[in-house]
Amino acid sequence: MIKKITACSTIFFLVAAPVLMLAQTAINPYKYSVRKKIECTHGAVVSAHPLASQVGVQILKKGGNAFDAAIATQLALAVVYPGAGNIGGGGFTVAHLANGKNIAIDFREKAPGNANRDMYLDANGNVQTNLSQNGTLSTGVPGTIAGLFAESKYGKLPFKELIQPAIDLAEKGYVISEREARTLNEYQKDFMKYNSVTPVFVKKGGWKTGDTLVQKELAKTLIRIRDNGAKGFYEGETADLIVNEMKRSKGIITHEDLKNYQAIERDAVVFNYKRDYTIVTMPLPSSGGVLLPQMMKMIENQPLKSFGFESVKAVHLMTEVERLSYADRAKYLGDKDFVKVPVKTLTSDEYVAERMKLYNPDKAGNSKDIQSGIIQKESEETTHLNVYDNEGNCISITTTLNGEYGSATVVGGAGFLLNNEMDDFSIKPGVPNMYGAVGGEANAIAANKRMLSSMTPSVVLKNEKPYLIVGTPGGTTITTSVFQTIVDIIEFDMSPEDAVNAPKFHHQWLPDILFVEKDFPMNVREELQKMGYQIKQREAIGRTEVIKISDGKIIAVGDKRGDDTAEGF
Ligand code: GLY
Repeated sequence: MIKKITACSTIFFLVAAPVLMLAQTAINPYKYSVRKKIECTHGAVVSAHPLASQVGVQILKKGGNAFDAAIATQLALAVVYPGAGNIGGGGFTVAHLANGKNIAIDFREKAPGNANRDMYLDANGNVQTNLSQNGTLSTGVPGTIAGLFAESKYGKLPFKELIQPAIDLAEKGYVISEREARTLNEYQKDFMKYNSVTPVFVKKGGWKTGDTLVQKELAKTLIRIRDNGAKGFYEGETADLIVNEMKRSKGIITHEDLKNYQAIERDAVVFNYKRDYTIVTMPLPSSGGVLLPQMMKMIENQPLKSFGFESVKAVHLMTEVERLSYADRAKYLGDKDFVKVPVKTLTSDEYVAERMKLYNPDKAGNSKDIQSGIIQKESEETTHLNVYDNEGNCISITTTLNGEYGSATVVGGAGFLLNNEMDDFSIKPGVPNMYGAVGGEANAIAANKRMLSSMTPSVVLKNEKPYLIVGTPGGTTITTSVFQTIVDIIEFDMSPEDAVNAPKFHHQWLPDILFVEKDFPMNVREELQKMGYQIKQREAIGRTEVIKISDGKIIAVGDKRGDDTAEGF
């Protein structure tokens, strides 16, 4: 194959510091740059951080496949992107193998064995979101390490080679970006409040761009995982350190919870869109596995293309579709190992057609009138990465701590942040969580249950061949961003970079508000308001990563909204 690399939009944001190469990787953690797009032919990685993407590509160059590269990238993110990259959280992996097999790995956190339905209610039944969103009582049993080992079954290289770059980055440190310095500074008070052992993230006088972050304790934890496998996390010294942290901070995760944690390989959700496309995505506990098929089916027979990208008609249709689907999410969706979820019905053509009868092309819907369908009888800091390798394997992984820096608690002596994923349950049915999402009984807390998620890692095939690998962080906006990105490329013939960077919008049934990014066109906003929409401008929606494979060319794009970086060769 001819080697072709075209790099665009490369932004150098770091000043040179003493150069010290990572022993194994020849990656310079003291001088690196953001690359927003790459065109290549062998393989590509796109993730939330330049160093993590470089680590992934290095693994591909060493002969690793997409799984190997994804594992190394995920582990590197746990070091260089502490706000969301993690070993103390959980996530989902969706993959389409070169041999045609689809894979879905669920390493979502789960409620500890001592969790109960009303654990975040006070004596008067009022919700205590300070407990569900901060500190270790908000922490679900972490799944990330179990997920990595479940992925490694499909890899080719020894795990110890995949984890070594992360160990080196933690041990020797890396320089932080402007963004990382800013967010670390924003969370200084939280780090002090929610930790009894002062973590490395606390810095007197605050952080500045180009400071070096060294994480020795995290490096030791990673070494235990390298040397002992998953047991290096779920048992032994790391488990002891987690449980000791729980004891200090009133958390409830036990040794038993950790030892019993299992990642689960599930059947991927696979559905067709129009004649040429097949979409592979994550099943429950990802709400994306229900909402994405619903939304795509709802638009399938509509003349969306003729409406034009971000036209009033197109945004109206897509918003109503989002509203209808999120109404169902609130009522029906939860961990199907615990509650009965009518997935087949919710995603059937008949049900979807029936729901579309509520769509009025001339008028905004009203969430008071639009309830869930009747059937007989999920700070948005998550992170996404995509890898495509030269064998034709596609992998799409979204992983999360839930809020930025999760619970803000770092396991004393172990150096990693714990998630605050318990807030993704409906802590009281009908009461909105931190994303304003309302959930019902189906997503109530129960011991060992997985909380509903919005993470929607996806692969799109065109004529049965890999075409798009897509996903994003963004809490409840994840599914709508994945939906819009796929639609923008498939229906509006947009380039992956335009689809990723175009202004996004979001509706989630309740609150009955159409959220738009600041560059969403003003004239469209005004027309939509005339139709009855209440519109609110909000901060950036997601950080979408896309790899497009077409005519032997790989185009990888990282979202403009962060330090996201595409690398390839
Ligand atoms: N914590 C965000 C999600 O899983 O949807």
